[in-house]
Order: sequence, then structure tokens, then C-alpha cells
Amino acid sequence: MLIMLASKSYSFGQEPQIINIENRASLTLNGIWKYVVDPYQTGYYDYRREVRDQQSNPSNSESLFLGYKPQNPSERVEYDFEKSDNILVPRDWNSQKEKLFYYEGSVWYYKAFDYAGASNGNRQFIYFGAANYEADVYLNGKKLGKHIGGFTPFNFEITGKLNPTGNFVIVKVDNTRGLEKVPTINTDWWNYGGLTRDVKIVEVAGTFIQDYYIQLAPNDSKNIEVSVTINGAKKANQTVTIEIPGANINAKCTTDSEGKAKTTIAAKNLKLWSPDNPYLYEVILTHDKNILTDKVGFRTLQTQGKEILVNGKPVFLRGISIHEENGIRGGRAYSREDAVMLLGWAKELGCNFVRLAHYPHNENMARVADELGIMVWSEVPVYWTIQWKNPDTYNNAHNQLTDMITRDKNRASVIIWSMANETPVSTDRTEFLKSMIKTTRQMDPVRLVSAALERHTKAGSVNTQVIEDPLQEYVDIIAFNQYIGWYDGLPEKCKTAEFEIKYDKPVMVSEFGGDALQGNHGSKDARWTEEFQEDLYVETLKMLDKIPQLRGITPWILADFRSPRRVLPNIQDGWNRKGLISETGDKKKAFFVLQDFYKMKKVEYDKN
Ligand code: GCU
Repeated sequence: MLIMLASKSYSFGQEPQIINIENRASLTLNGIWKYVVDPYQTGYYDYRREVRDQQSNPSNSESLFLGYKPQNPSERVEYDFEKSDNILVPRDWNSQKEKLFYYEGSVWYYKAFDYAGASNGNRQFIYFGAANYEADVYLNGKKLGKHIGGFTPFNFEITGKLNPTGNFVIVKVDNTRGLEKVPTINTDWWNYGGLTRDVKIVEVAGTFIQDYYIQLAPNDSKNIEVSVTINGAKKANQTVTIEIPGANINAKCTTDSEGKAKTTIAAKNLKLWSPDNPYLYEVILTHDKNILTDKVGFRTLQTQGKEILVNGKPVFLRGISIHEENGIRGGRAYSREDAVMLLGWAKELGCNFVRLAHYPHNENMARVADELGIMVWSEVPVYWTIQWKNPDTYNNAHNQLTDMITRDKNRASVIIWSMANETPVSTDRTEFLKSMIKTTRQMDPVRLVSAALERHTKAGSVNTQVIEDPLQEYVDIIAFNQYIGWYDGLPEKCKTAEFEIKYDKPVMVSEFGGDALQGNHGSKDARWTEEFQEDLYVETLKMLDKIPQLRGITPWILADFRSPRRVLPNIQDGWNRKGLISETGDKKKAFFVLQDFYKMKKVEYDKN
């Protein structure tokens, strides 16, 4: 199996990711934009299916990326953004426009803006928190580049391309699904399209701190490892100061010819970050009088046999799975308020851990988790059956992985990088994922690696559950999804199930659960009732608690979420109903079963 190393073949024109955008000088472009729906991609391809923005003289009349206006009454121009409908950014288009609820295809976004600081010697980048799925970006009619992947940030340099007034950015966003894509053509979540996260013009100095990593050295609570990347003409031999006033730290490092610097800083009596004490230090990075601040927690993390140790102490991951959706408002979650709502519910449940499924969520989730003391599992959308043999699919998945790690590597809350969910065992698949794991360990020597695997009933056994997956060898935590009592039999079956897991590693059950319509009551044998779901939780928790290596669970799922696969009238109506909370924010009976279980688990582990 040929695995191509990550080349930016998919996304082009973008600069390496600039991290910690929220603490940099910027002009937000969030708010009201104009949009044009273009199902036939007429604005992008001409009638011979040639790509217009590759043509030397693209037609003014149809090439939407030009944002062209007729110069005289007789000129034929067949679009006008300013007269087009409004749409909000950040947001998906599906939950904003009834006519776009099921829409999959291309939508052109347009935003006009002035930029006073256009020529002040600094550099400017246009930054997108995410765009689902494929984004072609143009500034003042000129192509900046393309980005692929719906859940990770990207930025293009626009220095020298801005005018003091009358700028316009145009983005063609296309969320068409495809077999070769990541995720692939079928998923169990709504394919929300659009500019789903923040859009900003970021201003930095000519030579600036583009990226940095600042975390405790592996298994060492006394030394902080720092690496810094300087971007700019004068990147070599640059001094960067790292200050952590709260820890009396003031250190320096100097970049090499590539603009990279590394150092290790001795740290005495650091207040370590933990769920019970999510202590964050202010960190100040200074280069050439330019200051960049961040809030960073320091904690150690490792596995030892079947234990997961945080700051050397065994933990049980009292978790819940979460989709990036605000069911109450509708659509993709994106804001700090959304994160506070979702993670607030998890806290109420008694969680110290969340599985952010099945793709990197917005940065607010990890930052709010840092503040609330909630540990995080972050995952790339290598979901079900993607094209394992396709080098472009590998590059795409690999880009999403490296972008996910780059963005959140300074978040103490993030403890697990997940490579995949429910992928079919094959040599090509396992090699694909092993290569992703290799990259992850090269980029991040501290965090744990996992993937949501599948279990099945051992051949010849009545109810012995096994995970026959070679990937177990390569992950730090063996995680699997199991739906005994929902997709496999009835809750009764939990009573006789036994799990045979031969590894001396921590085990996590990354999914279990069943659908219940909130407010639908009946006997515990009646599917879709709260009583059935409640009973399923009771039986499942008893079953799983017997697994000797069990060190965490993330039941499926915190809240009901939209899925085009769920069509049962008057019960699902387009919602996966496995939430413990309905889309209106109302709790189901099973919520309290899990809450009680977590009270018990907390007492059990606080004894340690
Ligand atoms: C799967 C999958 C989820 C899905 C869930 C379900 O295991 O990982 O994405 O939503 O099961 O069927 O509800």
C-alpha cells in the first residue's frame, strides 16, 4: 500500500496555520454576508466545464468570483451580490434558510469591507475557523487559494492586496459529499454547509510568531518544553522571550536559520492543571516588542498498564460524546456561548471528560474545556469506510490531522487524539491509520492516541465480546463502540455479556446508547421511550463496570442531533434521538442514571 506523505496537494495557496488567532490583532468579518446559491457551479465552470478562475480572460457576466458590476446599462452581468439575500457568518446555511435545509452543493459568499491599515508595513492574513467542505477564496476578484476539509482552520496571506476602502472577499463553499472525501459520502450527522466559524483579517508584524508549543515534557512535571516558529524575512537568529509571571519564569530562546527555536525551562512548584483544579497560567511570548499572550495549563499525562495517569494520579474518564450542534438554536455550534452550554450540560452530568465527535470542533470547545476542567478527546472524520487506497484521501485525512493538532496542542484539556471511528479492519486501513498515528506521535510526544474500534460476539460463543483489531497494538487506549441492547438484542442481553480484552492497556467504551423521544413514556420494553433508554443505561453500566481495564466511557450522546438517516415519523423526524437531552434542552430519565453512576465513580477514584 503506497501512502503518500502529506503534501498540500488538496489545499493550495494557504500559509502554514497561524495559531492562537483570538489573541492577535484582527478585524472581524463576522456578521451579515451576501450569498448566491449555485447548484450548477455556473460561476465556477463555463459551459465547457472549464474552470473560469484558471482562464486568462474569464467572463465578467458569469464569473461570480470577480464580483463584477456592469459599467453601463447595456452590459450583461448575470449576478449582483449587493442585491442578493443576506446570510449570517459564522453559521451553516441549512439552519438559516428553509430552502437550504437539505441543500448540498455550492454557495457563493460575498463580504465588502474597508481596511484602514492596508499599508502600515505589517502583514495581513485572512483567517477562516472552518468552511464545510471545500472553499475557493478570492479577494478583490483574485484567487487566494482553496481549502478542503470542513472542520479545521486555514489562512491566506493578503499583504499588499488590500485597499483602504472597497475590498470584497468572495468564497465559494461546496459541501457536496463524495466517496473519496473525508468524511466520505455517508455519515450519521447533518452535512451542514457554509462558513461555519469565524472569519477575520489578522494583522501581524513583518516577522512574527506564527506557531508555538508549550507543554510539560513527557512524564516530567518539572520541565516545560517550548518550541517556537517565527515566520518572516528576518526569521533567523531571532530572540523570543517566554514569560510565565505566575510561575516566575522568564526565559529566552533563539531561532535557527529556519526560524525555529526550542528550549526547556525548569519550572518549580507549578500548579498543575486537573479537572478538579483547572489552573491556567498566563503565558507571554515576546518577539521584537510584539507580544502574544495565551492561557495555558500544565499537566502530565501517561498510561501505566491499564491506568490513565493525570499528574501521576489514576483517573476514570467520566465522559459523554458530543456533536458540534446547538439543537436549541439549530445548526452547527460555533460560539463561546455554545461551548459553555454544551460543556455546562456535561458538567451537570458529572463529567470530567468529553468525546468531541467525529471531527475537530471549534476552538471555543477546547478553550472552555480548559477553563471548566474537562478533558477532551479530539477526532478527525475518518469515519466508517473511506478510500484507504486513495493517496489523495490519505493526504486529505493527514492534513486534517496535522491542522487539528497544530491548533489545539497547547490546550491542557485535550488529552487524546483519535484517528478514526468504526473503520472496517483491513491491511490498507490499518496501514493508513498506523501512518496517521506515526505523524501524531512525531507532532505530539505527550498526548495519548486512540480510535473508536468495533467489537463483536466471539465466534462460537453465546455472548463473549471481543475486539479483533490489530490497531489495538498501536494505540494507547483501547476504545470501542458497542450497542448491545439497541442494535444488538435488548438490554436483557447485557446481563450475560462478557468482554475478552487481552491487552494490559486502559479500555474506554467510546459509544453506547439507544434512541428515546423525550417525553415519550411507556414500559421499559417499549423502544423509543425514556424508560427503555433508562433501562438500557442501567444494564449497560453494570455490564461495562465488570471490565477490569475499564477506565472511561463516552455514551452516545449528550443531546439529540440532526441526521438525514433518521426518518421515523413522530419519533425521529430527522433527529438521532440517542441524546440524554432533547434538542429543546430537556433531560431524559437516562441522564440521571448516568449522573448517579458518575457520582459513584468520582467517590471511587477520589479515594486514590
Ligand atoms: C455509530 C456512529 C455514530 C452514530 C451512532 C448511532 O456508532 O459512530 O456516529 O450516530 O452509531 O447509530 O446512533
